[in-house]
Amino acid sequence: MTSQDTAQRPALRSQRLNQITHEPHQKLDALVKAHKPFETRENFARFVVAQYLFQSELQALYTDPSLKEIVPDLPERCRAEQAKADLADLDTEVPAPVAGAVNAPSKAHALGWIFVSEGSKLGAAFLIKRAVALELSDTFGARHLGEPAGGRAEGWKRFVKTLDGLELSAEEEADLDKGAVAAFERFTVLLEHAYAAQPELA
Ligand code: HEM
Repeated sequence: MTSQDTAQRPALRSQRLNQITHEPHQKLDALVKAHKPFETRENFARFVVAQYLFQSELQALYTDPSLKEIVPDLPERCRAEQAKADLADLDTEVPAPVAGAVNAPSKAHALGWIFVSEGSKLGAAFLIKRAVALELSDTFGARHLGEPAGGRAEGWKRFVKTLDGLELSAEEEADLDKGAVAAFERFTVLLEHAYAAQPELA
């Protein structure tokens, strides 16, 4: 971060989150691509394993009643079921849980994780186009990358608007940031785990 970046703190919370996760996002994007998920269905299935693990770890957050009060359609936003169906389409076993999942985070910390999970639906718009070459789609094998009901951009805008409108203490604000950064770290761990499980495909 340059001194200019430090001086210019974004006005909106979501912009701050975008800024602090920019580098982790770039690294993760490069790591995803390094595993060549669109080269074969087997490679893609490993990516789905990571997505499934991530989404299933977040299921408790997506269904949390106090978070649902903030984001009413939160449970419908979770993609664990779609990722599970994708695994079945790809003849891939549902993976065992991996130690180190997020556990009972504070409300703000949880929202940091959900920010990342929801944001990943934007990149998914690009990924699903590439999955078509493997004859996968939002009804087979790449369901979890599909357009959410009500629209991808619209769903994201609604989430961000809600997030930006919340009243948070300075401590919660810091917790939110930590949650977002932790989510990127976790996805990285799960991605490496998923490909390491079948080293010949990595
Ligand atoms: C687990 C978290 C995430 C993963 C695994 C992920 C993965 C990716 C990948 C692989 C791409 C490249 C697609 C391509 O070039 O074909 C991408 C693009 C993108 N992602 Fe993410 N992403 C995540 C989180 C986020 C978040 C939190 C945001 C927004 C706040 C976001 C916004 C975007 C956008 C706008 C693009 C397309 C344009 C660009 O590269 O900037 N992603 N993502």
